[in-house]
Amino acid sequence: VNDDGTAAAFDALMARLDPAMVVLTTAAGDQRAGSLVGFHAQCAIAPPRYAVWMSRANDTYRVGALAEHFAVHLLHEGHRGLAELFGGTSGDDIDKFARCRWTPGPGGVPLLEDCPDRFVGRRVGLVDVDTDHVCVVLEPVSAEVGADHPRLRLHHVEDIEPGHRAEERHDPT
Ligand SMILES: Cc1cc2nc3c(=O)[nH]c(=O)nc-3n(C[C@H](O)[C@H](O)[C@H](O)COP(=O)(O)O)c2cc1C
Repeated sequence: VNDDGTAAAFDALMARLDPAMVVLTTAAGDQRAGSLVGFHAQCAIAPPRYAVWMSRANDTYRVGALAEHFAVHLLHEGHRGLAELFGGTSGDDIDKFARCRWTPGPGGVPLLEDCPDRFVGRRVGLVDVDTDHVCVVLEPVSAEVGADHPRLRLHHVEDIEPGHRAEERHDPT
């Protein structure tokens, strides 16, 4: 991006989108991981597909690189504490799953009991365009819908200091 104001205008446009936040969890072997994610969207209709972008810096990417199943939990305004746990701390430092209530789902993926709006997806693709984030493409294999509440959005949580900054790249090999 040229230094002609494009970057600032792009940032302003992205802030206006104000995405709903999710917690992405995953498991591989006996390892579990999860993080707060703002880069995510449905990306196909028939068959349905969902894309989630993981920062290479995160423990979730390190575990997710080896995982088949991922759970996407939709957060509502009452989920600030979960956002802080999953977005403001790293599995590199603490066991997040000792600090929340969860049950194992398909492939052992942790399902957060306090987030009934969620689906589990099986990984059907990975998109790596050599940036700081890698996209996992999911096929939904189970989904649950809870009561509807106002969503927890980016503007509610942008004060949370990420457990890892995206500039810290992580090589899972
Ligand atoms: C507002 C906000 C949005 C975030 N969006 C993403 C995202 O889209 N993808 C991602 O991988 N990490 C995102 N993060 C960063 C992770 O949630 C954060 O670094 C987390 O502590 C990583 O935990 P882990 O190392 O246990 O995986 C976001 C953090 C915040 C505060």
